[in-house]
Amino acid sequence: MRILRFLRSSVKDIDYYSKFSPSPLSMKQFLDFGSENACEKTSFAFLRQELPVRLANIMKEINLLPDNLLRTPSVKLVQGWYMQSFQDILEFKDKNADDEKVTYDFTDAVIKVRNRHNDVIPTMAQGVVEYKEAYGTDPVVSQNVQYFFDRFYMSRISIRMLLNQHTLLFGGKVKVNPAHPKHIGSIDPNCRVSAVIKDAYENARNLCDRYYMNSPELVLEEFKASPITVVYVPSHLYHMVFELFKNAMRATMELYGDAMEYPPIHAQVALGTEDLTVKVSDRGGGVPLRKIDRLFTYTYSTAPRPSIDGARAAPLAGYGYGLPISRLYARYFQGDLKLYSLEGYGTDAVIYIRALSTESIERLPVYNKSAWKHYKMIQEADDWCVPSKEPKDMTTFRSF
Ligand SMILES: Nc1ncnc2c1ncn2[C@@H]1O[C@H](COP(=O)(O)OP(=O)(O)OP(=O)(O)O)[C@@H](O)[C@H]1O
Ligand SMILES: [Mg+2]
Repeated sequence: MRILRFLRSSVKDIDYYSKFSPSPLSMKQFLDFGSENACEKTSFAFLRQELPVRLANIMKEINLLPDNLLRTPSVKLVQGWYMQSFQDILEFKDKNADDEKVTYDFTDAVIKVRNRHNDVIPTMAQGVVEYKEAYGTDPVVSQNVQYFFDRFYMSRISIRMLLNQHTLLFGGKVKVNPAHPKHIGSIDPNCRVSAVIKDAYENARNLCDRYYMNSPELVLEEFKASPITVVYVPSHLYHMVFELFKNAMRATMELYGDAMEYPPIHAQVALGTEDLTVKVSDRGGGVPLRKIDRLFTYTYSTAPRPSIDGARAAPLAGYGYGLPISRLYARYFQGDLKLYSLEGYGTDAVIYIRALSTESIERLPVYNKSAWKHYKMIQEADDWCVPSKEPKDMTTFRSF
C-alpha cells in the first residue's frame, strides 16, 4: 500500500515538473555562478527546481518508447535510476536554504546522483541490443529510438554539466582546482584549442599504436593570431576531437594496411567572428554519401563489437557511439559536427563552436505536444518517387 501511494505521488510530481520548460543557461551565466561571489545558496535554489524539471521532461519521453523496449531489464534499470534521483532532489524542495547542513547534504545528494548515472549510456545501449535480438528492427521504431536517444543523451549531458558545476564549485574544501586555477568548474575561460587537440591526438595515437603497431602523424595549423582560445568546456572539446582522431586513424591504417608510411592527419583551427572551426582531415578512403547519415545513428559501426569485459584495453572503435555523442557535445552549446567525405580519397570532419560566449547557450530538449507527436507518428508513404530498378522502355513514348 505504502509503495503504491509513494509511486502515485511521484507520478504526480513528474507530471507537475514536466510542465515546466527547462531553463537553458548561457556560458556567461555558468561563469557568473562560479565567479568571485559564487554563492552556494543561489546554486542550490536554482538546482532544486531545475534538476527535477530536466529529469521530469526526459522521463516523460522515456515512457513513450515502444512497450517492448521499456520492458527490457536494462531500460527498467535506467528508469529506476531516474526515478530515484528525481526523488532524492525533491527531498530538498521545502528545506531551508540558509541552513548550512541542508546545502551540505544537497551537495552530497548531487554527487550520489551523478555517480548513480555513470553507466547510463552502455546500459541503454544494452537495452536496444536486447530489444533487437528479441523483436528485430523496424524502421518506425529505429527512427523513434534515434530521435529519443539524441534528446535523452543531450538531456544527460546538460544534467551532468549542472551537477559537475555544483560539485566542482562547492563540493570540495577548496574552490579553486590546483591543476587549473583559472577554470570555473569545468569551464576554461581561455581554453587553448590547439593544446586540447594535441592532447587528444596523443592519446588516440597511443591506442592506435597499440592496435596497429603504428600511427599517422599530425599536422596542425591555426588560422588567426595564435593561440586561438575560446570560453568552453575543455573536456567536451577533448571528447569530440579524440573521437574524430580515433576514426581518422582507423580509416587510414585500414586503408594503408602494412605500408610503412601513412598520410598524416591534418587538423586545422580557424577563428572568425561567429564560428570557431576545427577540421580533422584524413586520407583513409572516405565514406559514400549514401552512408553518411547512417554513421550518426546509435547502432552503426563497422568495427567488430568489443568485449564488454572491462579488463581489456579501451578499443579504438566498436560501439558506434563516437560520432553521434560527439555531435551532441557540439550542439549542446549551439555548435555542430559534420562529415564531408570524398569517397575514394578521405574524410573531413568539421566541428563548429560558437566563437562568442554570449552565443554559447545550452540547447535542451523540451517535452511538449510536438515531441509527443514524433513518437506517435506512423510511417506514411514517401512523398518522393521511388526509382524502379528496371528503366522504363522509352520507345513507347516516341510517337508523341
Ligand atoms: N574518418 C572516417 N573515415 C572512414 N569511415 C569513418 C570515418 N569516421 C567514421 N567512419 C565510419 O563511421 C562508423 C561510425 O563511427 P563512430 O565513431 O560513430 O563509431 P565507431 O568508430 O565504429 O565506434 P566508437 O563508438 O568506438 O567510436 C565507423 O565504424 C566507420 O565505419
Ligand atoms: Mg569512432
